[in-house]
Amino acid sequence: MGIATATGAARAAATPAGTPAATPAGAAAGTPADAAADASAAPRARTSTGTSTGTATPAPRTAPGLADPHCTVEGIDMRTALGSFCTGVALVTASGADGRPAGMAVQSFSSVSLDPPLICFCPAHTSSTWPRIRAAGRFAVNILGADQRDLCGQFAVTGSDKFAGVDWRPGANGAPLIAGVLATVECELADVLDGGDHAIALGRVTALTAHHDGEPLVYFRRSYGRVPH
Ligand SMILES: Cc1cc2nc3c(=O)[nH]c(=O)nc-3n(C[C@H](O)[C@H](O)[C@H](O)COP(=O)(O)O)c2cc1C
Repeated sequence: MGIATATGAARAAATPAGTPAATPAGAAAGTPADAAADASAAPRARTSTGTSTGTATPAPRTAPGLADPHCTVEGIDMRTALGSFCTGVALVTASGADGRPAGMAVQSFSSVSLDPPLICFCPAHTSSTWPRIRAAGRFAVNILGADQRDLCGQFAVTGSDKFAGVDWRPGANGAPLIAGVLATVECELADVLDGGDHAIALGRVTALTAHHDGEPLVYFRRSYGRVPH
């Protein structure tokens, strides 16, 4: 797949779904913090048990049963390896209990089941928007097109007015449907599973809309890109 990437707002941590997702609230992609994390991912001298032989480098944690000392499960190694999994990007939106719209950018969205129709996404426990989506009990997944990179960045900043200047209308379940997206998936929250530092939100699909067949916005190794269609 030929992907032209361009560095954009990014994320700092890995989702349980294997995506470079779930930034601790406020951390944005491409920040100096990211660069520091990248630098810390440089190969280090390690023993076969995964402990560091250097004095300045903290010992990496190895997963039980992993013989290769380089197969660590440190956060940065998770980001480096799992960031190689290219995904699309979506905005998960809901109508908050206070009547105000809520939304967050995710790349951990995935289809789960056709019958029954189920999807999932993985919100970080640090997200201030996820509790509002959870309380609403229904939400919409807005699948972003390649020209909606700025919109994605807007929905990745905690505490901001994410809907400022955004063209949207309420869907059948009340959740905001955003103009110009490739498709929308309206859902009822079917279950919330334990996903470590994230939750795994399972949604039962209640309505679908495919708007147009434009290029998707993709996320790969902490950069946005596009796939020629
Ligand atoms: C491309 C991209 C993908 C993201 N994917 C996820 C994700 O899958 N899960 C998640 O919890 N946060 C994800 N984030 C981070 C959130 O969008 C955002 O940082 C977070 O929701 C902060 O806002 P909030 O406090 O209003 O929730 C992603 C951010 C970007 C830029």
